[in-house]
Amino acid sequence: MVGLIERYRERLPFAPEDPVVSLGEGGTPLIPAPHVSERAGVEVWLKLEGANPTGSFKDRGMTCAVSAAVREGAQAVVCASTGNTAASAAAYAARAGLRGAVIVPEGKIATGKLAQALMHGARVIALRGNFDRALELVRELAARHPVALVNSVNELRIEGQKTAAFELLEALEDGLDALCIPVGNAGNITAYWRGFTEAGRRPRMLGFQAAGAAPLVHGAPVADPETVASAIRIGRPARWEEAMDAMTSSGGAVRAVSDQQILAAYRLLAAGEGVFCEPASAASVAGLLAHGAGDARRVVCVLTGHGLKDPQTALEQAGSVVPSESELGAIERAVLG
Ligand code: F0G
Repeated sequence: MVGLIERYRERLPFAPEDPVVSLGEGGTPLIPAPHVSERAGVEVWLKLEGANPTGSFKDRGMTCAVSAAVREGAQAVVCASTGNTAASAAAYAARAGLRGAVIVPEGKIATGKLAQALMHGARVIALRGNFDRALELVRELAARHPVALVNSVNELRIEGQKTAAFELLEALEDGLDALCIPVGNAGNITAYWRGFTEAGRRPRMLGFQAAGAAPLVHGAPVADPETVASAIRIGRPARWEEAMDAMTSSGGAVRAVSDQQILAAYRLLAAGEGVFCEPASAASVAGLLAHGAGDARRVVCVLTGHGLKDPQTALEQAGSVVPSESELGAIERAVLG
C-alpha cells in the first residue's frame, strides 16, 4: 500500500515534486470490540495504530516531518521521546539516510522502543531527567543548530497524524459520535481534531490521562509525573491549549484513569478482544469504561501503540508459563488439565 503522503497529498502540504520518505504507514485496521461494547453499553470500535510500520501512530506524523526535513536539506533529525517517537524518528531517518538523535528519559522507556531506536542506528541519549526536560533541551538544541526537530511541536507531525481522522470517516459510513484517545504531549488529539474539523465532522473528543500524569485534568503542570503507561508520563504537554480547545469545542472532556484501570483495560483488550496494545493505549478504553461517553452511540477508541513495544509490563501482567516434561502424559496434563 502507498503511504500517507501519496494517499492524502491534496490535504497535506506536499507538492507532487517533493521528496517522500515513507514506510507505507497509515491504512490501519478499524475493528469492532464486542467485549468492550458490552461493558460500555455503546458500539465501540478500535483503531489499531500499532499496525503502523514501527508499531505506533507516530509514523503518520514522521513520514511528513522527515520528508519535509529532506526537502529543507537537513542533515539530522532530533527528538525528545518517551519511546515511540524515538523509534519512529530513528526508522524514518534511516530510510532517508539522515542522522538521527533521540533523547529519552533514562530507564523510563519500554524495551521494544529502545531496541528499535538502537537498531535503526540512531544515537540514543539517556537523559537524567524526564520527558518534559528532554523536550525543553531539544528545542534549545534545534534553535542553535541545523537539525530538524521532529517532535509534535513540528507542524508537519500534526498534519500527518490528522489523516487518522480521515480514515475513520472513510471507514464509518455514518461517522462516529465520540473519540476516546490517550493524551500525553497532546499532539495526537490536536491532530485528530484538525482532521475532523477539516472534514466538517466533529465528534466529541474524550481525552484520557494517567492519574499520576494528568496536568490537563488538574489544570496545572505536574512536576514529577509517574505512571505504568510510560509513553504518556508527561507533566507539561506542548499542545496544551489546542488539546483543551479540541475537547471544549467538541463538547468533550479530559479525565484521569488510574494505573489499575489502565492495566485492567490492557488485559481485557488482549484476552477478550485479541488485541495487544501497550499500556498507554489502553487508557482510551479504560477511560471509556470508567467515565462513559455521554449519550454517544458509536465510539472509536484509538489504540496508539503495539503491545510488543513493552514486553516487560506484559509479562508482569500476564499469567505464567506451564512447565512440562517431554512426554505425552505430561503434555496431556499440561494442556487439558
Ligand atoms: N500513546 C502512545 C503509545 C504514545 O507513545 C504517546 C506519546 C501517546 C499515546 C500520547 O500522544 O503525546 O500526542 O498526546 N508518545 C510520545 C513519544 C510522547 O515520545 O513517543 P500525544
